[in-house]
Amino acid sequence: MPTVKSSMQGKICMVTGANSGIGKATALELAQMGATVVMVCRDRARGEQARSEITTTSRNNAVDLLLADLSSQQSIRQLVEHFQHHYTHLHVLINNAGAAFTGRRRETVDGLEMTFAVNYLAPFLLTNLLLDMLKASAPARIVNVSSAAHKSGSMQMDDLQAEKLYRPMRTYPQAKLAVVLFTYELARRLQGTGVTANCLHPGFVATNFAQSDGGPAVRLLVKLLGSFGTSPQEGAQTSIYLASSPEVEGVTGKYFVKSIPRRSAAISYDESLQRQLWEQSAKLVNV
Ligand SMILES: NC(=O)c1ccc[n+]([C@@H]2O[C@H](COP(=O)([O-])OP(=O)(O)OC[C@H]3O[C@@H](n4cnc5c(N)ncnc54)[C@H](OP(=O)(O)O)[C@@H]3O)[C@@H](O)[C@H]2O)c1
Repeated sequence: MPTVKSSMQGKICMVTGANSGIGKATALELAQMGATVVMVCRDRARGEQARSEITTTSRNNAVDLLLADLSSQQSIRQLVEHFQHHYTHLHVLINNAGAAFTGRRRETVDGLEMTFAVNYLAPFLLTNLLLDMLKASAPARIVNVSSAAHKSGSMQMDDLQAEKLYRPMRTYPQAKLAVVLFTYELARRLQGTGVTANCLHPGFVATNFAQSDGGPAVRLLVKLLGSFGTSPQEGAQTSIYLASSPEVEGVTGKYFVKSIPRRSAAISYDESLQRQLWEQSAKLVNV
């Protein structure tokens, strides 16, 4: 774990889900390092509250709040339009926002399964829409927050929307596995562009995760795990490391835990699965 933080002066960093937990701690530390931070949040009041805390604590006023519901493709497209209207560069994109599985199958406004859409398709779409800007800002970095839970995931390629069978305990690991597969395919597609893509497990972190939508069983599980969990600040360290450390300049297509590259699930290295998922995802989000 690095002890000396590098300066992020002059860097523009977007962090999704930046009003709470790991995302908020990530946004704060990047602001403390001098970055311009664009917080993406879905709720104006929660977002403003966090933005105000971050500017006060970091004494950095270059902290912006953009609103988007990442379960809606239209909202993601509006976010990107708005961002591109106000900013000319993007050096770091941290796809951090995530939501736990729900007790019963829920659909987004686009008719897609909610857990898959928020945890995976949203980063896929947001990243693809911002790719040209990231390339034009190179060196640039994409950081995708996955989870160790991806190791218990499997890809139901013929039923990604869980229409045939919805198993709550399967949807979240599958979505986080999709994030890893996506990161590896993305890293390959970005070779030679100066844009890197890595993913990570943040550890077990005591946050608001799963409190709103997870249902009673998940809330109880999360409460129990939360008592063993580390602080959001600690949970943010690998995201911050991948976003800022000179040690990972040019490093791409890796899965990190505690700022160290680790093996992800064996299935995540299957290049034909990575390509298949990319193609299906591109159709689902029209890119
Ligand atoms: N905590 C852990 O132990 C753990 C372990 C492994 C991986 N992770 C991953 O770490 C990431 C951060 O989670 P966290 O633990 O910090 O939980 P958290 O405190 O609940 O933060 C999640 C963030 O995502 C946002 N979000 C959820 N759905 C959204 C939507 N539809 N549109 C826009 N924003 C949305 C939330 O906004 P609201 O505040 O408005 O709900 C919140 O800002 C997630 O990707 C999670 O899967 C966490």
